[in-house]
Amino acid sequence: MSRVVLGVAGGIAAYKACELLRRFTESRHDVTVVPTAAALEFVGAPTWEALSGKSVATEVFENITEVPHVRIGQEADLVVVAPATANTLARAAHGLADDLLTNTLLTARCPVVFAPAMHTEMWEHPATQDNVATLRRRGAIVIEPAEGRLTGKDTGKGRLPDPDEIFALCCEVLVRGGAPTTDLAGRHVVVSAGGTRERLDPVRFLGNHSSGRQGYALARAAAARGADVTLVAANVTLPDPAGVKVVPVVTTAELRDAVLSAAVGCDAVVMAAAPADFRPVATSATKIKKADDGSAPSIELEQNPDILKELGTHRPGPATVVVGFAAETGDAGGSVLDHARAKLARKGCDLLVVNDVSGGAVFGEDDNEAVILAADGTSTPVPRGSKSALAHVIWDQVATRLS
Ligand code: CTP
Repeated sequence: MSRVVLGVAGGIAAYKACELLRRFTESRHDVTVVPTAAALEFVGAPTWEALSGKSVATEVFENITEVPHVRIGQEADLVVVAPATANTLARAAHGLADDLLTNTLLTARCPVVFAPAMHTEMWEHPATQDNVATLRRRGAIVIEPAEGRLTGKDTGKGRLPDPDEIFALCCEVLVRGGAPTTDLAGRHVVVSAGGTRERLDPVRFLGNHSSGRQGYALARAAAARGADVTLVAANVTLPDPAGVKVVPVVTTAELRDAVLSAAVGCDAVVMAAAPADFRPVATSATKIKKADDGSAPSIELEQNPDILKELGTHRPGPATVVVGFAAETGDAGGSVLDHARAKLARKGCDLLVVNDVSGGAVFGEDDNEAVILAADGTSTPVPRGSKSALAHVIWDQVATRLS
């Protein structure tokens, strides 16, 4: 059971922290809530106490015999501040110790996650951006706010991400235990996910069953390791991972454009998407009708660009690590790994994550099992486990090549 400190600052999104608290307690984490005085203007102490099963304090002089201003931080496995206001980010960045939360942040030696929420102007202000940069430089994970409706009628960047996704990111951080938390800090990585669709007519398309879950697990894991993540998502219905920039696309051509433009100068690009290899030569503007004589239409296809090969042969940055995926079966021409080695060379990538699909495809499953082949000839088997676990092994391999 991990000990989590949930810091809550004084913003309207404090009500969403109640949901986050529930996720932690329902999954048997021991949670101490440390609200700021301003947070209690939005959600009162009884709510935090009822949901966490513990009394809460905001000032260092409460329950003084327990020396809470030192103990709470020292004992924590994770501190997450959600929402983190501009004021709390500033106090944390400057090392102030004027309430229980800021004291806790100074005594904590565990991973610290800030989930900022504020108006766009406050988020974009150079003072806030400097404070965020300072906190990130010191090893904290500061999640990029989501875009959308803010308090009042305005919209923009500054929303607290979905509490479920903040929880998922915190779990990724906790699962890594003592490993260096932010080994991808300062890195920009691009991940593609999902399956593209090629339009036949206004109602039909050619597509595939890719769920996008492995790509989303990769994006979430990278964000939890401090990376700046762009996720190009082809027809995925999963919620946006916290702090990740999601670019929705439909077709392989759109996926190519979005990946190539996001990847300029990036540190790593992981092609976990399943792009359609072919598209109809023409898309009918009207619905293709059945013929009375029972005949079926012929659809002429042309090949789509191979995005991974393009990235492998024309690197988008001087030191970009390029990672591909391959689902293979063995046949008379060679084993799964023979085909995969040939594909790695053909596509010119640094790493190829190989799934043996001889027993059936792995689309939509919770678990994954793979071998990671590297251009330097090494191979790393990853036993059956969660898609998140495989994602972390992939990022381990990428991080080694970046350093
Ligand atoms: N990929 C790509 N662009 C395409 C097709 C695939 O970038 N048009 C990427 C996938 O995202 C994945 C890898 O290439 O990372 C897998 O390719 P795969 O479909 O296995 O390779 P192909 O070259 O199409 O080989 P095969 O003939 O075995 O299908």
